[in-house]
Formats: sequence, structure tokens, C-alpha cells
Amino acid sequence: MAVMLNNITTFLFFLLVNSLLFYSIQSLARPRNPNSLILGLTPASRASDPPHPKASTSSRKQLTDVLDMMEPLREVRDGYLISLSIGTPPQVIQVYMDTGSDLTWVPCGNLSFDCIECDDYRNNRMMASFSPSHSSSSHRDSCTSPFCIDVHSSDNPLDPCTMAGCSLSTLVKAKCSWPCPPFAYTYGAGGVVTGTLTRDTLRVHGRNLGVTQEIPRFCFGCVGSTYREPIGIAGFGRGALSLPSQLGFLRKGFSHCFLAFKYANNPNISSPLIIGDIALTSKDDMQFTPMLNSPMYPNYYYVGLEAITVGNVSATEVPSSLREFDSLGNGGMLVDSGTTYTHLPEPFYSQVLSVLQSIINYPRATDMEMRTGFDLCYKVPCPNNSILTGDLLPSITFHFLNNASLVLSQGSHFYAMSAPRNSTVVKCLLFQSMDDGDYGPAGVLGSFQQQDVEVVYDMEKERIGFRPMDCASAASFQGFNKT
Ligand SMILES: *[C@@H]1O[C@H](CO)[C@@H](O)[C@H](O)[C@H]1NC(C)=O
Ligand SMILES: *[C@@H]1O[C@H](CO)[C@@H](O)[C@H](O)[C@H]1NC(C)=O
Ligand SMILES: *[C@@H]1O[C@H](CO)[C@@H](O)[C@H](O)[C@H]1NC(C)=O
Ligand SMILES: *[C@@H]1O[C@H](CO)[C@@H](O)[C@H](O)[C@H]1NC(C)=O
Ligand SMILES: *[C@@H]1O[C@H](CO)[C@@H](O)[C@H](O)[C@H]1NC(C)=O
Ligand SMILES: *[C@@H]1O[C@H](CO)[C@@H](O)[C@H](O)[C@H]1NC(C)=O
Repeated sequence: MAVMLNNITTFLFFLLVNSLLFYSIQSLARPRNPNSLILGLTPASRASDPPHPKASTSSRKQLTDVLDMMEPLREVRDGYLISLSIGTPPQVIQVYMDTGSDLTWVPCGNLSFDCIECDDYRNNRMMASFSPSHSSSSHRDSCTSPFCIDVHSSDNPLDPCTMAGCSLSTLVKAKCSWPCPPFAYTYGAGGVVTGTLTRDTLRVHGRNLGVTQEIPRFCFGCVGSTYREPIGIAGFGRGALSLPSQLGFLRKGFSHCFLAFKYANNPNISSPLIIGDIALTSKDDMQFTPMLNSPMYPNYYYVGLEAITVGNVSATEVPSSLREFDSLGNGGMLVDSGTTYTHLPEPFYSQVLSVLQSIINYPRATDMEMRTGFDLCYKVPCPNNSILTGDLLPSITFHFLNNASLVLSQGSHFYAMSAPRNSTVVKCLLFQSMDDGDYGPAGVLGSFQQQDVEVVYDMEKERIGFRPMDCASAASFQGFNKT
């Protein structure tokens, strides 16, 4: 889910002193598997507010049937970017890969694009925008299109269509000759984007990264203004509008392996995103947990969390809200590549902090806690200022329903906030409390905690698999690094 940047991510950003340069789009890969589609994600850093995904009731209609695909994702400080090649001739726009929303949108027009309270994004990313007038294959979506109905099904009062008094029934009138009216699409932390639905040709990589396939009439938002949102999103939710849904992959599934944070902005390697059958092959030894169907947000991916183990302390039981929905549909743990840090509800979050405090004996770095807003930072010994020394902090393991456990990778729970000095390094726990845990999801598994984990979305069996993996090795094995 797309959420706003806060001072924490901003702070992290400044730590990445060597990676402030943003690089233009790379075509990163080398063909390996002939017959699938592979997308590469680029890591980006995204913010941390808990999302409230927008509900959408939509038909799951498959428009096209393509073979599997693979795309490289580029890592930036707050998330992972996918390059969209749209239009004739192609224009390439990098957008955040977001499993917590459906709509794919790109900034449209140049001088007119209006981005409110998103200076971080504007300043830190090369802003390419899409110009429909320069694409011979671009046209507005019609008001009878199922996507038009879907994008207007939001109960958002800011929706220009709603404001203009037009109703869904007007939209679905058979004899509708006008284009789909402008939409306003809302995100969790109060973010909203407005624009028009556009159709154009999308080019994706096949199973062979050297081969591209054209997807005609791909439907996306041509956005003229955003409030508190990153610039550009590719929706990977389960609704009709989402990218995998439009490409016919929702019957199958997809997988990603997010590179560790140290690769952020490194143009030489990208995170594998694999869509289709090959994302699901050879997963016999993987631990899967069932996807829960949220009555409130049926288009997003929910799992149930049963317990958390800290170090060798026996598992701490979690509140049932993290694995069950209440009568209104609140609850569950959202798996969201568009939220940076994992969020846990109070008072459980504080209990986890207490358990950690009871077993970690290093001095607290309260000054760092004040500066960053993270709740638990420690001065950890770091002999000879070598960060290569083993992790002296306890491991954290998430236990999901069906006995699927995930040991968080080193550096994805406690993260070194600065270079070691005086044989000490300050590390902070990169979890946050859910601000509004009673409404919407009870918790969120963010992208930062999915580093160096292969995550498989198996749509056929309605389950999600987690497996620790060295994603940099996986990327080079699959041809996602530049040689
Ligand atoms: C940007 O705007 C100017 C002035 O409206 C226009 O001439 C130019 O073609 C636009 N460029 C793109 C890439 O849309
Ligand atoms: C990427 O590769 C180029 C060429 O090998 C190298 O000069 C550059 O330092 C690499 N960048 C990073 C961030 O590793
Ligand atoms: C748990 O870990 C601590 C150090 O982290 C160790 O001293 C203790 O013996 C361990 N307990 C068990 C039961 O393994
Ligand atoms: C630190 O460096 C010194 C000298 O280089 C070496 O003798 C010592 O073993 C190192 N200590 C550790 C813990 O690596
Ligand atoms: C759960 O998994 C652990 C190891 O991953 C195993 O030891 C245990 O027997 C499993 N429990 C059940 C009920 O399957
Ligand atoms: C590091 O140690 C030196 C000498 O012991 C001390 O003057 C300095 O303040 C220390 N720096 C930090 C950041 O603790």
C-alpha cells in the first residue's frame, strides 16, 4: 500500500550517503528461462504509515493470456521499483511495486503534474512522466469499461465522479459515449491521486529477459496530481485493475525476492519478480501459510500471525486480531510491499519491545531513538569497527498459521543506523506500532522485513510462502545482475 514518507525513512535515506545518485532505467537481465515473464524490482524506500487499503468489489476478468513473465525490480530506499514501458514509441516510467493496492498509475504530463506533500519523492527520484500525446496507441478508457466502474467503486467522497453526482448506474448505461470520468483513488495514510484512466500498450519481459511481449490496451491511471503519495505505483493486488490481474496471472501467482537494503540504488543488480507458473515451480520444501480473505479488503493479501519468537525465549502469543477478522472485517496481517516497516498493534507491540529489552543487555541509544522516532535502539559492540562481526542481537521469528515460520534476515529487524565508531554501532529495531490498529488490518508485514526472503503468492492454492534466501545470489543466478 502506498503510504507517506516520514522522518524515519528520510533519516535512513541520509545514511545512504553513497547511493544518493539515481540512475536511469537499466535493462538488467540476461535471458535464462525461455518461456516466462520476469520483472525486475528496484528497491526503493517507502514510508511507514499503516495502510487502509481501499476496498473494491470487482470481477476478476482476465483480458489477456500471456506466458509467464520476469521483470527486474530496482531497490530504492523505501521500496522496489518496476520499470513500465508504455506507449508507441515506448516511454519508460519507474513506479513502486505495491501488493497493497490495485491501480497502476504513472505521473502524466510534465509541467502540469502536481505533487503535494511529496517533496521527498520529487527530490529523490528522477521524475519521468508519461505523455499520452506522444504515444500513437494511447486513448482514454471508456465509461462502459469494467475498469472504469472498478476505479469509481471507491466510496471516496473526493471522487470527482461522486462529487459531480454521477452514479455507478450512469456509468454502466449501455449507450455511454463519453470517456471514463476522472477518478480519485485513495490510499491508506490519507494519500490520494487523481487522474484519468488510460489504455495503452505495455511491454513486459517474457520468461526470457531478452524478449519482450506487447500487452495491448493495458489500463492504468494517467495521474495529474497526488497528495502524499510516491510518484507512480504498479498495483499487484487481487482486483480487476491490478497488473497481474489484467495480464491474466491471478489464477497462478507471482514471487519476489527483495534484495537487502545495502543494495539500494545499486544499478548493477535488481530483485527478481517472477509472474506465472515458474513462480510456483519447485516450491515443495517451502513453508506456506493460507491467504486469509478479508471481508473489508478482499483485494489484498492477508495472512494470520500466531506467535513471535525472540531469540531462544519461548514464543510470545499474539492477539487473535492478527489472525482473525472481527464482525466488521477488521483484523489480519496485511502483506504489503508498499509499506516499508512492519507494524504491530498495541499493546502487543509494547510486549515485543519488553521481551527484547529483557534479553538485550547493551546500553540503549536514546539519542538515536529521539532522532529517528524508532522505539528501540542499542549501542552494540562492534570489535575493530567491523560490521562483519556476527549479529549480537537476538533473532526474531514470525510464526504464521499452518506452522509456517519466518526467521527475519539479519539487518531486517535491527538495522545499523550509522557507521561503527569507537568499536560500537547503533542499531534500531525497524518495527512500528500500528497507529490505528482497530480499523482495517491489525498489522502489516512491510517490505523491509521481506528482504532476503523469497515470497511466493500462490493464487491457485490461496497461500503465501516464505523462505529465507540470499536474493543477491538468486538474482545473479537468474540473470538479474549486470555483467
Ligand atoms: C512538456 O510541456 C511542454 C509545454 O506544454 C510541451 O511542449 C512538451 O511537449 C511537454 N513534454 C512532454 C514530454 O510531455
Ligand atoms: C556498478 O558497476 C560499475 C561497473 O562495473 C562499477 O563501476 C560501479 O561501482 C558499480 N556500482 C555499484 C554501486 O556497485
Ligand atoms: C538462550 O540464549 C542465551 C544467550 O542469548 C543463553 O545464555 C541461554 O543459555 C540460552 N538458553 C537456551 C535454553 O538455549
Ligand atoms: C582487532 O584488530 C587487531 C589488530 O588488527 C587484532 O589483533 C584483533 O584480533 C582484532 N580483534 C578482533 C575482535 O577482530
Ligand atoms: C512445526 O514446525 C516445526 C519445525 O519447523 C516442527 O518441529 C513441528 O513439529 C511442526 N509442528 C507441527 C504441528 O507440524
Ligand atoms: C570515542 O572515544 C573517544 C576517546 O575515548 C572519545 O573522546 C569520543 O567521545 C568517543 N566518541 C563517541 C562517539 O563515543
